[in-house]
This record gives sequence, structure tokens and C-alpha cells, in this order.
Amino acid sequence: MDLGLTGRAAFVAGSSKGMGRAIAEGFAAEGADVGMCARGGDALRDAADAVRAQGVRVVATVADVSVAAQATAAVERTVAELGRLDALVVNAGGPGPGQFEELDDAQWDATYQMTFKSAVHLIRAALPALRTSDAASIVFVSSSSVRQPIPGLTLSNSVRGAVAGLARTLADELAPGVRVNTLLPGRIRTERQLELARAAGTASLEERWAMLSRDVPLARIGEPAEFARVAVFLSSAAASYVTGAMLAVDGGLIRSVV
Ligand SMILES: NC(=O)c1ccc[n+]([C@@H]2O[C@H](COP(=O)([O-])OP(=O)(O)OC[C@H]3O[C@@H](n4cnc5c(N)ncnc54)[C@H](OP(=O)(O)O)[C@@H]3O)[C@@H](O)[C@H]2O)c1
Repeated sequence: MDLGLTGRAAFVAGSSKGMGRAIAEGFAAEGADVGMCARGGDALRDAADAVRAQGVRVVATVADVSVAAQATAAVERTVAELGRLDALVVNAGGPGPGQFEELDDAQWDATYQMTFKSAVHLIRAALPALRTSDAASIVFVSSSSVRQPIPGLTLSNSVRGAVAGLARTLADELAPGVRVNTLLPGRIRTERQLELARAAGTASLEERWAMLSRDVPLARIGEPAEFARVAVFLSSAAASYVTGAMLAVDGGLIRSVV
């Protein structure tokens, strides 16, 4: 299937590692130029080099997307250098673990900034360019916790509900010019899962992956590239009649009908 991405441009936030990096690589494999960002410069440089090696143009900007000025500058620089923007992938790091009684206001506020306000900053900055594309798309990287709370991830379980509300509202408000969809990863083998494994004090990584695989119908955790293929497809004109969707990429983990 031709995804029609050759010569188009995508901005992938939080793209030095994990699913964001895999999505940036996925766009490049389809011939799209890519804007990338992350807070840490070294990992971002490595990721940008890998994406550039696929023969596309890459604009990599060190930026914290929870800070309005930095998110805006990263998107605007990408549009200025690539000359267009067709796809935005809203993504950032995940909130830390903790149950309600362990959490203080600073943690709630930081999660709101990183998980919710980052989406506002990125979309606001990207919209003027997206509106000039004949195949514009926004994809949110969210979590299975939108459908079913994950024990011990109170911050994520809570704030992602607000992001889902924003995504569903924008699918109406921005139609028909911009499609807006949300991906719900289950358990994907990334730095984020390694951090949660460390926080849980699991003895070995193998033990952690085995534990996480146990109740997944496909009997394993997912790979970032498997997630990225779905994100790139949803961002492309091949998904031209899909908007307002919440699509699980979780090996069948969540059995919810909605
Ligand atoms: N992996 C899973 O199984 C899973 C499951 C459900 C939901 N999710 C969610 O999916 C999202 C991506 O997860 P992942 O597993 O790919 O994470 P990851 O491996 O930790 O990668 C996160 C990427 O985003 C960047 N980043 C983090 N905070 C940022 C910020 N404020 N501004 C700019 N860049 C930022 C990181 O680089 P820097 O740290 O250098 O900025 C890194 O490049 C997270 O929200 C996570 O909670 C993941």
C-alpha cells in the first residue's frame, strides 16, 4: 500500500527514544521529512542521525514540550526549514508512578504541564501549517489507561482522560481539514517500561517482560516499530476516512468495546 508520504513533512515530539523515535524512523522509511525534539541533546542527535541516514531531511531541536515557548519554537523551526507540515505526532514522556495519597501538588501540576499542556502548545503551533496541507493529521500517543486504569499510575490514569477529551473535541472542531486520532499503547518495550521496571524493583528485565506478557492475548510485549507502523499509517492519506478514533496497539490487552 502506498501511504502517500513521500515529500511530505511530519513533526514527532519526544522522538529521541522509544515510540517517538520509532515513529520518526517510520515516517522517514516512507519518504517523509521529519521534525524531531526531546530535552536531552545527545540522544536526540543520535536519533536524528539515524533518521537522516534514511535519506530524508531532519530538523532536530532540543526542546521541552511542556514549556510553551520551547514547543512552539521546535514546531515553527521545523515548518520554516521543511517548508510544510502534514502530520503532527503529540508525544512526551510518561508521568511517574504513585498512588493518590503519595502524590503532592507539584507532581499533579508537572503532569498537567507535560501530558496535557504540551498537546496544547504543539497543536497551537502546528495548526497554521497543518491547515495548508491537503492531508493533515494529528495523532496523540496516549495510553491504554484511557480505557482501563493501570494500578500505581494515578497521574497518568487521570490526566490522560483530559487529553482524550481534547482529542475527541478537536476531531470535530478541526474537521474536515485535519484528522485527529489517538493511539493507546499497552506495553511497549521502551525506556519508559525500563523506568517502571526499576521503580517496581523487579529482579530482572526478563522477569518483568514475562510478567507484563502474562495477560496479553498475543503473549508478549510490543516492539516500538510495531507501534510506529500504526502511527505512520494513521498519519497518512491511506487513513483518509479515519478521525476521532481511539485505537489500541496493545496485543489485545484491553477488552473494552469502546
Ligand atoms: N512504553 C509503554 O509501554 C507505554 C504504554 C502506555 C503509554 N505510554 C506512553 O507513551 C509515551 C511515550 O512512551 P515511551 O515508552 O516511548 O517513552 P520513552 O521511551 O521514555 O521516550 C520518551 C521520549 O520523549 C522525550 N521526552 C520526554 N519528556 C519530554 C518533554 N517534556 N519534552 C520533549 N521530549 C520529551 C524523551 O527524551 P528526553 O527525556 O530527553 O526529553 C524520549 O525521547 C509516554 O507518554 C508514555 O507514558 C507508554
